[in-house]
Amino acid sequence: MKYFIGNWKMFGVPKSINIIKKINFFHLKDKNRKKYRIIITPPYILLETFSKYFKNKKILIGSQNCYQKDHFSSNTAAISPYMLKSVGAKCTLVGHSDNRSEGDTNQMLKNKVNFALKNNLKVVFCVGENKIEKKNKKTFSVLKKQITKVLEKKFNKDNIIVAYEPIWSIGTGKIPTKNELEETIIYIKKILKQIYKKKNPAVLYGGSVDGNSVKIFKDIKEIDGFLIGGASKSSKKFIDIIKNYYR
Ligand code: PGA
Repeated sequence: MKYFIGNWKMFGVPKSINIIKKINFFHLKDKNRKKYRIIITPPYILLETFSKYFKNKKILIGSQNCYQKDHFSSNTAAISPYMLKSVGAKCTLVGHSDNRSEGDTNQMLKNKVNFALKNNLKVVFCVGENKIEKKNKKTFSVLKKQITKVLEKKFNKDNIIVAYEPIWSIGTGKIPTKNELEETIIYIKKILKQIYKKKNPAVLYGGSVDGNSVKIFKDIKEIDGFLIGGASKSSKKFIDIIKNYYR
């Protein structure tokens, strides 16, 4: 199963549901539809209405983040996994570099993953090195730390997806070479195997994925799908990625 996940970030108002309706319409008629799953993560304020609308449809609606506590607490503006689940969200991103740069620590991320899984949310756990770490050839050690400090053996691996997003590639149009990316995804799978032994979580790539770059990525069979930012805000661009991936 491949995944095409659209991360809207700070984008969207109620009428933006039309973008997802168009994507859903495409998916319903696509001859490859059984081969992949679409998840869209709109901002918190849209989760309830979007989740309700797509409840019995194939597209899953998820959150972009969650707070590191389970239920209710006195943290202003925080949204817990329990609250996300109660409005119909099916999954949540955790550890996006935007949130890491705003202060998310490994301990906070571990709690987020733990409580999200406890509330039956699928977790898309994001990892990735920055430009300087890449330049200093620290990519593998950074990834190893990010993964092993957060993901635990006791976590339900069937509900974990890992997204490799090199920070220097997010929103920049810069992408890793095919070899680099292949090696990195294989390395991530190796680390995950040390934790989870048999069946590994899926590993996605994210960072400047669009209808063009996906033509390069589609030859890397280890990639289990994509986390798409900018190009997920347009139904046409998002659909083009899926079309070009299977072309
Ligand atoms: P991008 O963002 O596709 O715009 O590079 C990816 C992400 O941040 O998830």
